[in-house]
Amino acid sequence: MPVSPEPADRESSVLHRDLTKSYRQFVGGDGVYLVDAHGRRYLDAVGGVAVNIVGHGERKITDVLAAHGAEVNYVYGAAFTSPWQEELARDLASVTRLTAPRVFFCSGGSEANETAIKLARQYHVERGEPRRWKIISRWQGYHGNTLGMLSVSGRPSWRSIHDPYLFPVPHIDPPYCYRCPYGLTHPSCGIRCAEDLERTIRLEGAETIAAFIAEPVIGTSVTGVVPVPGYYARIRQICDEHGILFIADEVLCGYGRTGRACAIDHWGVVPDIITMGKALGSGYAALAACVADEHVVEVLRRGSGQFVHGFTYSGLPLSCFIGIQVFNMIQDLGLFDRAAEQGKYLFDQLAQLSRHQIVGDIRGLGLLAGVEFVADRETHAPFAPELNLTERIVACAEERGLLLRQGVAGANYGRGGDHIQVTPPYIISRGEIDELVGVLDGVLHDVSAELP
Ligand SMILES: Cc1ncc(COP(=O)(O)O)c(C=O)c1O
Repeated sequence: MPVSPEPADRESSVLHRDLTKSYRQFVGGDGVYLVDAHGRRYLDAVGGVAVNIVGHGERKITDVLAAHGAEVNYVYGAAFTSPWQEELARDLASVTRLTAPRVFFCSGGSEANETAIKLARQYHVERGEPRRWKIISRWQGYHGNTLGMLSVSGRPSWRSIHDPYLFPVPHIDPPYCYRCPYGLTHPSCGIRCAEDLERTIRLEGAETIAAFIAEPVIGTSVTGVVPVPGYYARIRQICDEHGILFIADEVLCGYGRTGRACAIDHWGVVPDIITMGKALGSGYAALAACVADEHVVEVLRRGSGQFVHGFTYSGLPLSCFIGIQVFNMIQDLGLFDRAAEQGKYLFDQLAQLSRHQIVGDIRGLGLLAGVEFVADRETHAPFAPELNLTERIVACAEERGLLLRQGVAGANYGRGGDHIQVTPPYIISRGEIDELVGVLDGVLHDVSAELP
């Protein structure tokens, strides 16, 4: 059915994040492009927010939706299952390196991470270690926006206002070499940021810790931060020594975005639980998952036999059906390999941007890239936050038909710092990457010229 755009002068009834501006309306999509209410096309360099991987307006998905709806729309996941849920669970299990994993479906990444944490807690309780409840996470990690996941996230700018509601979570330093928290360099650093996990466990008491959670490649707080080789092997070793579960939050960096099925695969390390989201439904369904290794689930199966958890929309047949279409497209088009290939090309092209003095760091893996801006390349000093540099870059790009996302303020440990995210759909072509980088190059040139 054709969409009638909202009249521009009509007052919105939506509680938008920014209440001071009117939001651009998008009414259509075609591959990597989105189309606004005036018919103008924008290259979506971020796939929404690292969500869309198969492209916008994909008829292979939309054309089959009606056929599904005629079958069954809902069954309660705590009591029943459906062929679509069972099939997608097998599909997801097949892309991880976990042993005989079990999949719990959710509607978003925050729910998937809450599921992982409740599973970790129940695992320890049923193993007879009820004192283990704490979750260790990292500063600059983001795991979701429910109060539980905000407690776990290490993003000061989003935590502070809700601080009274947050439960205590020990945070360790991030593996952010560009701004090493210890002022060290690899390899002479001895990967001190990984040793911070060991130190924190000792301080807190290993017998109180249930799990450590981390994004294998950091997504939105300091986009594209890739830990050094050896980092996750050491993390895995520390967790094993202390009987702590390792949860890899692959909600943003997983499902092929870094060019491997799971981002943690780059380190050859197998976690105990993996969470996935965003790309699973590619924006056609609100779909996420918590995928747990057999050894975790087995403790519950042999113990109480129950997982004390559940959501109304968990395993919704329609969402799983869409997830299967996305998975089939990944298989048919070899989209994980494509993300690896196009990612190499993207980074080759992004490298040109280093000719702009404001570009401090270009980093990431596959089609997960971050570009950080600095006032001084030698010292890595950030720009004054009042300059709103990233907002200016993103706004200027949007005027020129390129959609980017700003990194969340606080890249410089909560005191300013500017960066953008580039996370396009995996179907992006080389020509479209050229267009993306060409427009960004012009934007950086013009915004730099306006700086004091
Ligand atoms: C790494 C990571 N985990 C969890 C989440 C939360 O996902 P959702 O917004 O779907 O709840 C996000 C969202 O950006 C994320 O990037």
